Amino acid sequence: MRKLILHPDAVLRRRADSVEAIDSVILSLVAEMIHIMREEQGLGIAAPQVGASKRIFVTEGEAEDGGDEKVFINPKFLVVDGLLESYEEGCLSLPDIRGTVRRQPHVIVEALDVHGKTFTMEESGLMARCWQHEMDHLDGVLIIDRMSVIDRIVNRKRLRALESTGDSD
Ligand code: NI
Repeated sequence: MRKLILHPDAVLRRRADSVEAIDSVILSLVAEMIHIMREEQGLGIAAPQVGASKRIFVTEGEAEDGGDEKVFINPKFLVVDGLLESYEEGCLSLPDIRGTVRRQPHVIVEALDVHGKTFTMEESGLMARCWQHEMDHLDGVLIIDRMSVIDRIVNRKRLRALESTGDSD
């Protein structure tokens, strides 16, 4: 069973590889990602956060019983636009750390679904922000890279504690 990977594990800093074939290994990875996202009550999770350096992220749906999660394989943004908006973000891989991140509010994403079919989706607001956060994970970028200097100072102690207990390799 895979588990949630915390900063400062090196897998979180790698640029993830594209998925070449959606086989049983990838499908079980996706199932584990959904499981861990639910367990940790995240809005989304990216494959590097469960230790797999693959270009996949999943996001939670809005149904109360879950089950309408979305899977994005080899995602890419077709459009990212609008005026930058500031909003506080957290990350499952950075427990107890929160900071304000500026992102554009409107995104169109293209990806493969679990059947290998290309789809596009458009979102504004919170989910558009979530997609950009998860896409950052696929490029080895974390919110601590994007937050303001002030937020980094506010989180300094917690970050240092995390970095001294983490298994960095
Ligand atoms: Ni995250």
